[in-house]
Amino acid sequence: MSDILCRPIDSNDLDDLRKLRNLLRKHFINTNFVNEDEQIVWWNSYKINNNDQLYCFYDKRLTVVGYGGFSNYSVKYKTIEVGRFMVHPSHQRKGFLGEIINQLQYLAKLKHSDLKSMHLIVSLENKNAIKAYKKYGFLEIEKNEKKFIRLKKDI
Ligand SMILES: CC(C)(COP(=O)(O)OP(=O)(O)OC[C@H]1O[C@@H](n2cnc3c(N)ncnc32)[C@H](O)[C@@H]1OP(=O)(O)O)[C@@H](O)C(=O)NCCC(=O)NCCS
Repeated sequence: MSDILCRPIDSNDLDDLRKLRNLLRKHFINTNFVNEDEQIVWWNSYKINNNDQLYCFYDKRLTVVGYGGFSNYSVKYKTIEVGRFMVHPSHQRKGFLGEIINQLQYLAKLKHSDLKSMHLIVSLENKNAIKAYKKYGFLEIEKNEKKFIRLKKDI
């Protein structure tokens, strides 16, 4: 049985989500600082976007471990983008990303039964994340302008 549980994010997660994202922002391709007003604009568009789902992952004590989600399902290619993976620093390097990816794969497959693969983009500088994705079965499929790479996992 998995050590973590998950639920779709709700408005109560916004503060933690924004602070964690800002804390970890150097690891993302877009490294800008997100203020509260900008996050509200994002939240209002996120809520009405049926093609974007972000989940909160938490342990049995209800402590939030991290976040991750999927978006942009392609009907043509039967693939979905996964990402926005963030694990709280105190929970990093305990294998949680593997569980998060497994659970997202399950949820994405529930929503799109013909799903064939998951893909993501990561900054080339984010060596730890690249290592982690490869550990969990993602393969490099594209290098773009030497800034980021795209990885894919067949399911
Ligand atoms: C990348 C991230 C999501 C990984 O989550 P995690 O739960 O800590 O990862 P795991 O514990 O499952 O690690 C899996 C593998 O990744 C590699 N890895 C992860 N963190 C590492 C680190 N700090 N140093 C070296 N290797 C690391 C290791 O190979 C590890 O396997 P191992 O522990 O058996 O050696 C997390 O470090 C994080 O939130 N980073 C900041 C935000 C970020 O970079 N998000 C991804 C944007 S694309």
